[in-house]
Parts: sequence; structure tokens; C-alpha cells
Amino acid sequence: MTDKLIIFDTTLRDGEQSPGASMTREEKLRIARQLERLRVDVIEAGFAASSNGDFEAVRAIADAIKDSTVCSLARANDRDISRAAEALKSAARSRIHTFIATSELHMEKKLRMTRDQVFEQAKLAVRFARNLCGDIEFSPEDGYRSDPDFLCRVLEAVIAEGATTLNIPDTVGYAVPELYGEFIRRLRERVPNSDKAIWSVHCHNDLGMAVANSLAGVMIGGARQVECNINGLGERAGNCSLEEVVMAVRTRRDYFGLDVGIDTTQIVPASRMVSQTTGFVVQPNKAVVGANAFAHASGIHQDGVLKARDTYEIMRAEDVGWAANKIVLGKLSGRNAFKQRLLDLGIGMESEAEVNAAFARFKDLADRKSEIFDEDIIALVGDESVTPEHEHYRLLALSQQSATGEQPHARVAFAAGAMEHHAESDGNGPVDATLKAIESKVRSGAEMVLYSVNAITSGSTESQGEVTFRLQLGGRVVNGVGADPDIVVASAKAYLSALNKLHSAADRVAAQG
Ligand code: KIV
Ligand code: ZN
Repeated sequence: MTDKLIIFDTTLRDGEQSPGASMTREEKLRIARQLERLRVDVIEAGFAASSNGDFEAVRAIADAIKDSTVCSLARANDRDISRAAEALKSAARSRIHTFIATSELHMEKKLRMTRDQVFEQAKLAVRFARNLCGDIEFSPEDGYRSDPDFLCRVLEAVIAEGATTLNIPDTVGYAVPELYGEFIRRLRERVPNSDKAIWSVHCHNDLGMAVANSLAGVMIGGARQVECNINGLGERAGNCSLEEVVMAVRTRRDYFGLDVGIDTTQIVPASRMVSQTTGFVVQPNKAVVGANAFAHASGIHQDGVLKARDTYEIMRAEDVGWAANKIVLGKLSGRNAFKQRLLDLGIGMESEAEVNAAFARFKDLADRKSEIFDEDIIALVGDESVTPEHEHYRLLALSQQSATGEQPHARVAFAAGAMEHHAESDGNGPVDATLKAIESKVRSGAEMVLYSVNAITSGSTESQGEVTFRLQLGGRVVNGVGADPDIVVASAKAYLSALNKLHSAADRVAAQG
């Protein structure tokens, strides 16, 4: 048993399955680059067979990432596995992660398959995958609620077929730490060839125990891979949070006795990037990455920390990347400095035209905001997430009037492809008036399911407002994010960005026939 704990990040796959967290190829690529800077061992980049968009995202990440293994999920069938292998072709290191459900409930009600059929399919899938890739992970979906005898039979067979990692998901977040740890320990004891594979934990957070369960799987069960997500993003209540697992193992090395290869100073930038991209706000009291995680409000605590930091702090803020919150650029900064900062932040731009467009936005922002922070740059580049050539809707100008006792009124000019629209409307407030003006021309018919406004940097009113809109149309949910010192402008940008995502999805559907 090695004393290295493998960190497998699935923000771009399981995290993205969270309703409203879907990301564009460019957004996924940007996050994958940050995950590489964080030095995660494995990046699960997506589910290549699930859509052409996901296939392209996995392929782009496989192309770009050199230091982490890039993985694609695949159901246990030849078509899915071939698509995964195809998307991963150019990766420096690749992994295929194939899965099939093994609990009675899932086999009978969802798959409508017998135990023997599932057993055969799991074996054949791993055999097929192993011929395409040397690194194969197998997951028995709903593994924790599966019959241990049947599970042992399946796991032994897939190891014999060449699976190199066995992942035991608590798919519905039903486990409690001690029982989950014992479950994995017994599986490892009972499966005769268990030492031929690395065991992995994958816990959902429905009862708030995903991190505790994962760590019990490691300590009691002997697992040496944890599957986790930045900010604990994921379906329903989310997945195990990467930052919490990593900092627990780091901070309590005396207890865990394990090494992780993570560059922890990249944790907060990764958290911000995921939050800004998906619009999933991090709660202020969230461990490690919440705005209050290192804030000491009470006088007694402040006094203690000033005298000796470790009176109330078990981790150093700068060790997880909080120190990155500094002024980096201003109005006088040139294009080269801006480009270098993008590189330092791990933001790769595909063309000089993209750098130029982002730099123009930076200059515009610097004219209106004296201090530009890293978070401002990440948000500004986020505005580029729909690359100019794919950006159908674009804000050109906005003016609005609101005064006490009067009905707010907005005038908006925006581009829709080659057309320029001018629209105006009253509304309950300036944001409502702006959106009504845009909708009077676009007539998207989308339902608004979320509107949120946050300050990008510290609590000052100088900060940019970051707005997220979540729109739903025909079963598709998209997030649009926009940032600007003026929150009405930020709202218009966010709304148009969400419309762009709906528009490009419609285009893709049309193109696929
Ligand atoms: O939760 C789960 O069971 C999964 C598997 C596909 C690994 O995400
Ligand atoms: Zn999962």
C-alpha cells in the first residue's frame, strides 16, 4: 500500500451534472488548466459519448493538459468506450472510467438486467477498454447499496480483465463514515486479487457526510484515491469537496500519514474560477474557501491571532491561495503585463485576437475601477467564454433612469448576429426594465430560475458586481454570468450571455440535424 493519496477531480464531469452548472468547451478548458496548476493527479474531463459538445471538451482538454491524467467516463458498452478512447487519443496520459450499476434496485428498475447480465457486461466492457487504454477505472454504480457478495464477484472479474482502479461510489449519499470505511475494508479483504488495483472512494453529500465518508474510506478501508470536486460542486447536495479533503490530509498529516501532490496555493483561485464560471456561489462559512474561513470577527480571536497566529488558526490563509487577493494591474498596465497575468492565472487564450478582445475589456474596466484584482481578470475573461465568433448577442449600450417614486425605464442597444436592436421598456426596477427591453426583441420564452448578484472582491462598493442568471428552456438549463461595476450593466451582460448559451445549443442541435 502506497502512502500517496491520488486526487481525482470530477468537477468537469460529476460537478457539471449539477443542474445549471453546465459549461462550454472553453470554460471547461480554462478550469482544466487551473486543475493542472493545482496538480490534481486525474482530471475527469467529461463523458465523451454523452454529446458532441462533451466529446469536443474532452478532446480539447486531452490536447492541452500535459501534467495530469485526463479521463473520460463511459457506460459499460463498446460505443461509449470507443468514443472515450477517441476523445482521449492525444492525451499525454489517459484513463477510461467505465461504470455499470450493481445494486438490486438499479439493476432491476433502471437497467432491467439480471445479475448475470450485469456481471458479463462489466467484464466485457473492461476487456474492451483495456485493449484501447492501459489505465482503466471501473465503478459499480450505487456500489455502497449493492449486495457485497455480488459486488466481490464483479470486482474480482474486472480486476482479472485489467481494471487498474476500482471505485466504490456512494451514489446517493446514503453512507455513514464508519460503515462506509468498513464496507471498503471488507471488499478489499474478500476480493482475492484486490492488491492488483488501487481502490477509490466516490461519495455524494446528501447527508452532509461526503468528506467524512471519503476519509473513512481512506483510513478504515485503505482506499488510495479520492474522487472530489472543487467547492463540492455536484448533483443534488454535491460531491466530496476537494479543498476539504486535501486540507484535512495536509493539516492532519500526523493522523492520516498520507501525501497529496496538490499545490494548495492554487485552491482559492480554482474555487473562484469554478464559482464564477458556474454561478454557484460559495457560502461565506464554507471550510477553506469561504470568504469567512480565515476572518476573525470577535475581539478575543483577533487579539489571540495577533499575538500568536496558531491560537485560532490551524491553516495559513496564504497556503490555500488567499494571498492571491492583491491588486495586480491598473490603468497604466500594458498588453504584455496583462498577457503575463493571464498566463500566471493559468488562463490560456487560443489566439491573439482573443487576447486583444480581453485586453480591450480590461482597459475599459481600468478606466472605471482603479484597482484591478485577479478575480476581476478572471471575471473579465469569463465574459469571453462565448468566443467572439460564437457570440450572437452582444451588449452595445445601456441607459436607464430610476428615481424614488417613479417607474424605472431602460433603453438598451444590443447586437444579435449582424443586426443591431434598440429596445426600451419600463419595469419594477432598473434590472427588470432592462431585461424586459431585451426580451421585447429576443422573445426567448426562457424561464428565469435564478438571479444572483455578488461583489467580486472584498466587501467594498468599489467592487465589480457579478451577476448570474440561470435560464431554463425546453429542458435545458444554462447559466449566464456578467460582471461590471454597474450591476444593471452586469445584469444585461449576464442575461445576454445566458441567451448566447441557449442560442449556441440551438445551433448545435440544428447542425446535428
Ligand atoms: O455517483 C456515481 O455513482 C457516479 C459514477 C458514474 C462513478 O458518479
Ligand atoms: Zn457521482
